[in-house]
Formats: sequence, structure tokens, C-alpha cells
Amino acid sequence: MNNFDKREKWGSKIGFVLAAAGSAIGLGNIWKFPYVAGENGGAAFFIIYIICVFLIGLPVIIAEILLGRTTQRNPVGAFKSLTNSRLWPFVGAMGVFVGFLILSYYSVVAGWSLGYIYESASGVFYSFDNPKLAGGHFNKLISNATWGVSMLAIFVILSMFFVYAGVQKGIEKGSKILMPVLFLLLLIVMIRGITLEGSQKGLEFLFEPDWSKVNAITFLEALGQAFFSLSLGMGAMLTYGSYLSKEDNIPKSSLQIVILDTLIAIIAGVAIFTAVFATGQNAAEGPGLIFHTLPIVFNKMPGGYFIGVIFFVLLTIAALTSAISLLEVVTAYFIDEKKWSRHKAVIVFGILAFLVGIPSALSFNVLSETKILGLNFFDFADYISSNIMLPLGGFFIAIFVGYKWGFDKVISELKNGSENLFEKHLWTISVWKILIKFISPILILLVLLHSIGIF
Ligand code: TRP
Repeated sequence: MNNFDKREKWGSKIGFVLAAAGSAIGLGNIWKFPYVAGENGGAAFFIIYIICVFLIGLPVIIAEILLGRTTQRNPVGAFKSLTNSRLWPFVGAMGVFVGFLILSYYSVVAGWSLGYIYESASGVFYSFDNPKLAGGHFNKLISNATWGVSMLAIFVILSMFFVYAGVQKGIEKGSKILMPVLFLLLLIVMIRGITLEGSQKGLEFLFEPDWSKVNAITFLEALGQAFFSLSLGMGAMLTYGSYLSKEDNIPKSSLQIVILDTLIAIIAGVAIFTAVFATGQNAAEGPGLIFHTLPIVFNKMPGGYFIGVIFFVLLTIAALTSAISLLEVVTAYFIDEKKWSRHKAVIVFGILAFLVGIPSALSFNVLSETKILGLNFFDFADYISSNIMLPLGGFFIAIFVGYKWGFDKVISELKNGSENLFEKHLWTISVWKILIKFISPILILLVLLHSIGIF
């Protein structure tokens, strides 16, 4: 049997969309989007973010999934099977490494969410009648190194468990049930946010742009956030695409994934900012933002105790379906290219992710004064990977698909499963072609160069 036959597959079309949406939807939408938007001026950032998502994210996600489906390989193997050059597989290898780095600090925040299941269940939120107390409680927890590192450990073990179980039984099954519940719950929290007194200011912050706050960094942050939130630029979508069959409609699935991901970010943004402004907190609070605000919202709503507990359970699960996709990439690479067993790959890289995550967990306590280029280890890992490496990876994917692969082959592969779409709306191909060949790579390059001050 060759590698092609024994490769795992998704059980259904909707299973793929939900697993890919499960990868995309996670801490990036609920934890990161609100705090990055808060630090970068709100509405203006949000508009630039939406532009990045549709002009760059959507064409690149199609390209990534297509690379995976066509080659049925991990990021390194995909490039290897389409070129003879040594350089392109290196782009894939860079992706595998970046995914691993993201997994390490991502699991730290996921660990906080995990810890907050216990905090909410313990009833401690009842005593938070003002935001200072909620913030103080969070700061006390993360300044405790043992708490941070043990939550990290538990979360990594949970992720290992699903990847160990495999594609259909682990990843697909979990995503199918949990994503819809998360959506519902977020809606409830958002409605409570909007009905809080003084929430109007939060909506203004998110939807009425103040362009004076926009600078080069705003663009870079928005681009990085778009890549991070859509799980793009390092081969996670490529790897998930590699478990697809030829009958799936890639443009349609991609659009669904992108819309779901954006919708969740907007709902989370509204939920958080209405609460931030209604309770008089600081929108530019940074990575602790949701942990400072949400406990207060839960405290102020009927049934808030239960909603709080369920919310953190689901947030942890949303993080889990994303962490799984990060761990799956390294795992797929070692299975395909190094002939490791799935189990061995999961155990080795799970443990390594935990070890590399430790300095990030310690960035909020013992290592808080240790800086790399002015950032603590956690912020540094996040900045380098999401703002620099992911857009760079996306740039190379666009160039590869636009110029190197052979565009006729690209189109004929893309048509598999989407014949209908292209018969009815032929223009979609031309639009995608312009986006992937010109608009996305040029915009990415401009933003990257601009942010390092080159033009
Ligand atoms: N997109 C996820 C989130 O928003 C995080 C994530 C999962 C990710 N896989 C990725 C980010 C691959 C970048 C690359 O939480």
C-alpha cells in the first residue's frame, strides 16, 4: 500500500468544514481579537482587519487547502511533490516550526482558560463587584508560576489525547458537537453585554473609526491577526486539506470557514467591548482583557454562574480544536516524511511543546523582566510568529500557487468539486487569480516592508 491509500480522511464534507473552522476559531477570535483591537484603536483596526481577511486571507486559504488536497501531504511533502527545488520544501519546514512555536505559547493562554473553569465554578466571581477585583484576581493567578505551568501541562496533555486518537475519531467528532454550542453561548454573552448600561460606548469604539490612531503597526497587527485567526501561513489548513477528497468544493468551504471565523470574532468583540466600557475598564489592557472583563459580566447576569462555567469550558474546547490543528501539522510531517508512528510523533512533540511553552508561562512571573527586543518571551514568540512568519508563509504560498506550480494545473485542480460554481460564476476564477497572483502577495510585502520602516 502506498502512502496515498492509507492516509486518513475526513468522514464528511461538513466534518471538514467544522474541523477547519474548529482550527480557525479559537483563542484568536475570543481572547486575541478583542485585546489587539483594543490596543490598536478599535474600529479603524477592525476595518483594516476585515480588508485583510477578504483580500488576503480568503485567497490564501483556498490556495493552502488546494495544495494539501492535491498532494495529500504535510507542508514539506506538499512542496517536495510539486517541485524539484530544495527551497520550497524549506517554506513548508518553516511552517512546521512556526506552528510548533505557536502551539507552545497558545497552550499557555489555553491553560488560563482551563484554570478559569475552576475559578468560575468556585464562585469567586460573585465577589467581583468592581473590575479592579477581577483584574487583581487574574494578575494574582498568572503571577503564580506553578499555576501557569501546571495549567499548561494539563492543556498540552488534553491536546495530545485528541491528536493521538486520529483525524476522524478525535478531531472531526469533537468539532462537530462543540462548535455550535460555543456559538450559542457567545451570543448570550453578547446580548448581556449590549444590555449593560453604558454599553453604547463599546459599540462606538468597535464600529466608529478614529483614523488618527492608524499607523504602520496597525496594518501589521491586522494582517498578523487575520493570518493567526484563520490558521493560515504555516500549513495547518494545508494539512487539513490533505485529508480531503477530490469531490469537495474548496472555494465554498473556504468562504464558509472565513465567514464563521469572522462572525465569531465580531460577536466576541461586541461582547467584550460593551462590557469593557460599561464597567469602565481599559480597552488597551492587553492579553488579560477577557479575564478582567468577563467575570464581571457573568456576575451581573441571571444564571451568570452557569454561563460563566460553561463559557470557560467552551473557550477551552475552542482552544483545544485549534491546538490540535497545530500539533497535527508536526505530527503529519513526522509520519509522512520520517516514517514515525502517529503515537510516537504525538508524544515527542507534545512534550517538547510543553517544555518550549514554559518560558512563555514564566513571562508573567519569574521571567517577566527578561526581554528579547523589548518584549517578554511570550510577546516575542507571538509577535515573531503571527506578525512576521505567518504573513511571510502566506506570501510564499501565494507566489508558489500563482507562479511556480503552473496556473493551468492550479485551475484544473481547483475545478474538482467546484464545477458548478465555475459554470455559473466564471468570474470567481478571474477574481481569485488576480487576488492570489497580485493583490495578496503585494499587500503582504508592502505591509511587511512598511512595518520594518523600509518604505
Ligand atoms: N486560528 C486559531 C485561533 O484563532 C489558532 C491557530 C490554530 C493557528 N492553528 C493555527 C494560528 C495555525 C496560526 C496557524 O485561535
